[in-house]
Amino acid sequence: MRPVSVGDYREAARRRLPRVLFDYIDGGSYAEQTLAANVAEIQALKLRQRVLKDVSKLSTETTLFGQTLSMPVVLSPVGLAGMYARRGEAQAAKAAKAAGVPFTLSTVGVCAAAEVAAAAEPPWFQLYMVRDRAFMADVLARTAALGCPVLVFTVDLAVPGTRYRDQRNGMLANTAGQRFSQMLDGLAHPAWLWDEQLHGGPHTLGTVAEAATDLKRLVEFMTWIGRNFDQSVTWDDIAWVREHWKGPIVIKGVLDVADARQAANLGVEGIVVSNHGGRQLDGAPASIRVLPAIAQAVGDRTAVLMDGGVRSGLDVLKALASGARACLIGRAWAFALGAAGEAGVAHMLQILRQELRVAMALTGCTDVNAASAELLAD
Ligand SMILES: Cc1cc2nc3c(=O)[nH]c(=O)nc-3n(C[C@H](O)[C@H](O)[C@H](O)COP(=O)(O)O)c2cc1C
Repeated sequence: MRPVSVGDYREAARRRLPRVLFDYIDGGSYAEQTLAANVAEIQALKLRQRVLKDVSKLSTETTLFGQTLSMPVVLSPVGLAGMYARRGEAQAAKAAKAAGVPFTLSTVGVCAAAEVAAAAEPPWFQLYMVRDRAFMADVLARTAALGCPVLVFTVDLAVPGTRYRDQRNGMLANTAGQRFSQMLDGLAHPAWLWDEQLHGGPHTLGTVAEAATDLKRLVEFMTWIGRNFDQSVTWDDIAWVREHWKGPIVIKGVLDVADARQAANLGVEGIVVSNHGGRQLDGAPASIRVLPAIAQAVGDRTAVLMDGGVRSGLDVLKALASGARACLIGRAWAFALGAAGEAGVAHMLQILRQELRVAMALTGCTDVNAASAELLAD
């Protein structure tokens, strides 16, 4: 049966992917409370049904950092996407381009920015700060030279939150027994095995491949992150980033008004209100809960984006009504990619757009740029 919703794509991805990969995408840290809250609290928000307004013409178009977006949705950086489908980042970027929305490439993507740029267009680039600053400077210079328009600097992963599912599945450190069961699991998912494992190589991390020679297995990748991510980064380092990146800078992982103010004071062009999709500090509040106060505090000085728990076009409208200029989506595209590659991501984006349009029509909102708290029932 063809998926008709993001939830259906999640189920389709569960069927097609080995468990270790599905759980890596689907899971969160510790008891997964923040992950659950992200979804539940957006769903709990009520939209205000309005009638007899002329909704024959709707506009979902918006502008962000000088770019026109066909709708206020951005594909969030998702690591290892090239493990979910053959050259996954390039496939998703093609679908995003066709839909008129930006794709953000993770530092730890399988495809490098040049491959994504050649397949689609220069992506937004997401930065994790690694210890070797000369290497970082080189990555930024090469990424800028490709024409990548926006830098998304993720700051909520000073240390990785523990994800029990990954530990249980042997994603972080594995025994011979776990390796054997991963192999059997791979064999039990032949469509993925044929597409991704046999035809999706090379299986390296495009951006960091030159800095790391030992990334042949997932477990080595996780170990590399632990060894090389720079835990000493502070607000002072934003100046370093600015020196090496002339375009717009977006700080991703802000969840507190004080931090949002600090980012705005430093003059960054945008922030993403995010708890990393509930994959880092479990017990942190849902993004949608803190969004209104942050948007109110700094929305006039910096573009406030949000992610976490967006699973439908209705959710997109709720986020806009709560103060976001646009939403990033993570699992929604990762599931669609894992389930059906580029066609899946393209279809999922069509679904979001249609849901957003219906939500706009039934709340009497004809222009996404005019969305405000007026659209919410409570
Ligand atoms: C499988 C997976 C991998 C991720 N990898 C990254 C990453 O490499 N860099 C990053 O900044 N965020 C990463 N994130 C977080 C997403 O960018 C985003 O903040 C989160 O997925 C939003 O929540 P949602 O999945 O509920 O939409 C990842 C999320 C998932 C699910």
